This record gives sequence, structure tokens and C-alpha cells, in this order.
Amino acid sequence: MKKITIAIDGFSSTGKSTLAKQLAKELEYVYVDTGAMYRAVAYFAMQHEFIGADFFDKAALIESLPKIQLEFRYNADLGFAEMYLNGENVEKPIRTIEVSSFVSKVAEVSEVRTKLVEQQQEMGTNKAIVMDGRDIGTVVFPNAELKIFMTASAETRAQRRFYELQQKGDNVSYEDVLKNVVERDYIDTHREDSPLIIADDAIEIDNSYLSREEQFAAVLELINDVVKTV
Ligand code: DC
Repeated sequence: MKKITIAIDGFSSTGKSTLAKQLAKELEYVYVDTGAMYRAVAYFAMQHEFIGADFFDKAALIESLPKIQLEFRYNADLGFAEMYLNGENVEKPIRTIEVSSFVSKVAEVSEVRTKLVEQQQEMGTNKAIVMDGRDIGTVVFPNAELKIFMTASAETRAQRRFYELQQKGDNVSYEDVLKNVVERDYIDTHREDSPLIIADDAIEIDNSYLSREEQFAAVLELINDVVKTV
């Protein structure tokens, strides 16, 4: 079967990574979670006290960018690649609500975006890739053969994220998770550089009332149609 590039964009907690992982496994494609890269940079900024509740030293972060080395290493037990920051596995710390509360501010910085987009484009040179994020179909791979834009109501998404964090033993309230989801939606869609917008040629999927299985089957059908035409 002809190899293509699949770009999945959408709001936070719309299940982009769940779908992307299912597709990568089924098609034997590489899966890249670009949100993990922005989260790792936010985590680095937190560790170095460049960002906090009421401050953000963007200049210091920009100056430190050459010292940030990001790498995905495949974990065969999990069936997907994990995020490493300067050689350290940061999968756990980057998923906390603290990192979620700073990541959109870090992702607004153009210098950060330029560095990460370059790395993402390099990963896609051989196609056979499914990448999820906010600007994949618009900026990273504007020529992707299939672009999907995922949406769901803020409440549905907050409920999903709340459940996920609870499962991990993170002691957060539903209200805080909803607040974070709404805040990130706002920053992600209003930033100057590469805001979250739907690409003209993207297919929109609202999965508020779709099961994972239904969504997966629908997208596989789309892929089959696209592959016939390329
Ligand atoms: O997908 P996620 O929730 O893990 O992403 C975390 C944040 O990173 C998100 O709020 C916005 C930013 N992001 C981005 O600006 N561009 C991307 N391609 C991926 C994520």
C-alpha cells in the first residue's frame, strides 16, 4: 500500500493521540506526538525557573534553546515512542497539570516553534508517518495527503482528561481541568504564530458522540480512499 503522510490537528484532549497511535499500529507507520515536544520544552523552562505562575523570561528560554535536545525513543512494551529531554525520559512529568498550565505560553514563542517544526519536518521526510498537534496540516506538512481536524465540546474533553489524570493518581478537580482546557483553547487559537486553525483541505471530525472504534473505522476508510488516488 502506498505510504502517505497523515496530519491530525485539533483542540486539546480530543483524542488525537489515541487515534494517531491506533493508525500507526494498524499501518505500521511512525507516530509523532508533537505536543510532547512542546511539553518537554515547557518542562525544561519550569526546571530552569524561566516560567512560573506570574513570570515568563522568554529571552532566557530562547537563549537556552540550543541546549534543549529532544528525542523520541521507541518503547516496544508500550508500542509507541517516549519523549526524552537531554537524555532523560520525561513522559511522566510532561503530562502533569502544571506543565499543561504553562505549555501554551511556551508554544507561543516563535523561536521555539521554528526549532520544533524543523525537527518534525525532518522526521517526515520518508512519509509513512502520522503526526498530531495544532499546526501539522497548516505549517509542518501543508502537503499531507490526509488532514484530519478533531473537535469535541470542552466539557467532553475536560471529562476525558480529568478521568485520565485521576487514573494516574493526579489529585486535580474537574473544574481545574475544564479551566485549563478552555484557557489552552483560547491561547492556541489566538496566538500570532501558527494558531490552531482548520486547514482548507482538512476533514473535520467531531467525536463528542463517537466511540474510539467508530472513529478508527471511519478514518481507516478515509485512508483507503486517499491511498487509491495518490
Ligand atoms: O497535544 P497536547 O495537549 O499535548 O499539546 C500541548 C500544547 O502544546 C498545546 O496546548 C499547544 C502546544 N502545541 C502546539 O502549539 N503545536 C503543536 N503542533 C502541538 C502542541
